[in-house]
Amino acid sequence: MENKKRFSIITFGCQMNVRDSETMRSILINKGYEEKEPEDADIIVINSCSVREKAANRAKTYVREFKRKGKKIIFAGCVAENEKDRIFEIGADAVLGTRKIHKIDRIIEDLYKDKKIIEVGLDEVPEFDFVPEPTHPVTSYVNISIGCDNFCSFCIVPYTRGREITRSYYSILKEAKELIEKGSKEIFLLGQNVNSYFDNVTGFDFADLIYHLDKDLKGNYWIKYLSPNPRDFSYKVFNAIKNSEHISHWFHLPLQSGSTKILKRMKRDYTKEEFLDLCYYIREEFPDATITTDIIVGFPGEDEKDFEDTLDVVEKVRFEMAFMFKYSERPNTSARKYKDKIPEEEKNRRLQILIEKVNNIIEERRKEMLGRRFTLLIEGKSEKFEGCSGCKTRENIKGVIKGIYEPGKFLIGRVVEIKGHTPIFEFERFTNF
Ligand code: 5AD
Ligand code: SF4
Repeated sequence: MENKKRFSIITFGCQMNVRDSETMRSILINKGYEEKEPEDADIIVINSCSVREKAANRAKTYVREFKRKGKKIIFAGCVAENEKDRIFEIGADAVLGTRKIHKIDRIIEDLYKDKKIIEVGLDEVPEFDFVPEPTHPVTSYVNISIGCDNFCSFCIVPYTRGREITRSYYSILKEAKELIEKGSKEIFLLGQNVNSYFDNVTGFDFADLIYHLDKDLKGNYWIKYLSPNPRDFSYKVFNAIKNSEHISHWFHLPLQSGSTKILKRMKRDYTKEEFLDLCYYIREEFPDATITTDIIVGFPGEDEKDFEDTLDVVEKVRFEMAFMFKYSERPNTSARKYKDKIPEEEKNRRLQILIEKVNNIIEERRKEMLGRRFTLLIEGKSEKFEGCSGCKTRENIKGVIKGIYEPGKFLIGRVVEIKGHTPIFEFERFTNF
């Protein structure tokens, strides 16, 4: 029986999945299982992402690989929900949907009984109150909602994570407090669409949530959140940020497309101009803000003019960072109905043009940081730069600082050099947060 006790979790996808993996890891460790590298484990948990076909396929490749090596496989996460039969066919021993991850320990007990184990379905309200041990030395993730009601036409999330359920303020507060007491310095509030948050018990919307967390949580820490929908930002949210001590001026605003025509097809509910106005407002009101984004190229019907609109927004906003993707058709999504698909080659061409433009802008942006002072959080020893520590700014730009500092320390650093996209800081003084 001893050899059933070793597990390994492989995580794909977003912070939501990272957090789910932390939950599964903590449950298993509490039950006496031991975490190992995949090669030395008997049980492999694959926490999959289905947002693009490539990511979903990669997770499936791992099933085949570890099956060959004789491991027991629990296939969890976003792909599990939609493709359970296929996943058994390729060799998984158990399938665990996104709202069933708390059953991981029960599933493991059944693994060696030679039966098909399926735990899927989106009807269940998850057990929010379990607080996993953080795996990162300074950053923790706290779910404020799960699921999504937006049904953007390209997006599989409502089908893999279900409809939106928000978590009560007091439950969030309790967890964040515990994490700060354990040493977390950066709390990421997580939801598919954080700014549609609404708590029936307290009547708090997202602005109230961040305003009260900022006041109720004592200590030295930052609050960040992922991901907001540009459509749901309000002046009330901006005011809460302005009147706070701990909330970061990092704004991740997924643009998806700069073309109003395509945005309409994507069911995003904002226009190019509205998006630009939002960014101009942020740049004006928060001069130190970082604005980052997600962009999809090659959505059905995207013509040259639409693509140019995307490039135009990129030039006007000058994002500090962007995640860029080729459109990938996903099961169940309503965008499947569009017949005017863009050929793969053309998607590749547009993606290359976009990446080059974004990279040039990021380089310029980084150069503008030279000589300026930033509040930094130390994350650990830098792997790439000898004698340096990895750090990030309050506005979420990653960099390194000369010298070795303890993870979790806040300090003020001045940018003395830029290497690629990485600002190099020099220590000036310690600070509270
Ligand atoms: N194809 C390509 N990219 C997608 N994203 C979501 N769904 C798709 C899809 N079908 C991107 C969006 C989202 C990010 C997490 O992934 O840009 O913001
Ligand atoms: Fe996260 Fe969406 Fe991928 Fe699921 S499908 S892991 S929610 S990005």
